[in-house]
Amino acid sequence: MLSVSLLAADFGRLNEEIEMVNSSVADWFHLDIMDGHFVPNISYGFPVVEIIAAKAKKPLDAHLMIEKPEKYIDAFHTAGVHYLSVHYEACTHLHRTLQHIRATGMKAGVAINPHTPVCLLREVIHETDFVLIMSVNPGFGGQAFISRSLQKIKELKEIIRREKAATLIEVDGGVNLQNAAQLYAAGADILVAGNAVFAAPNPQETIIELRIRN
Ligand code: DX5
Ligand code: ZN
Repeated sequence: MLSVSLLAADFGRLNEEIEMVNSSVADWFHLDIMDGHFVPNISYGFPVVEIIAAKAKKPLDAHLMIEKPEKYIDAFHTAGVHYLSVHYEACTHLHRTLQHIRATGMKAGVAINPHTPVCLLREVIHETDFVLIMSVNPGFGGQAFISRSLQKIKELKEIIRREKAATLIEVDGGVNLQNAAQLYAAGADILVAGNAVFAAPNPQETIIELRIRN
């Protein structure tokens, strides 16, 4: 599957960019929420999420790069989000936070920074609908893929298999036409792509290619 990151979209033409994704074969809209504390950048908040939710014809996959994400779970649910991921590094009571996300009806995701080993997820794997493996340091689009992430996908796949869990693996950062096939082969279920889509001469064709590289 492919989740298109709107962070790389032209926000001056947000309607058209959303329509481009709506009429493409992309599966989800990926929304990057940054607070300027957990990551050294600020993106956008609820007014923009609500506009996207009103126009999007595909599920919203919100990636919270914020401190104390548990404070905003209900607000993202009300805003129309379907898949909500919080960072492992930002949650003191991760198990409780995942239960809270699921209780709203949303799917619960855990995002991990490049320095965080996947073995730390074992105790919450049955509470986790999807893991978002960050293959760049979060905060900015357009960065280079960290190749070590491939090994993390394989290791996580093995943990999911051993634990007989149904957790999906999403990979985010530096995904492009050169590495997509390798990522699917390693065990990724969902790829996130921002610049690879929006900077392409033909974004909808690129979405098709990124999706069939498995
Ligand atoms: C980075 C974000 C990513 C980013 C991906 O902090 O979490 O979702 O938008 O952008 P590309 O695909 O350009 O690396
Ligand atoms: Zn993201």
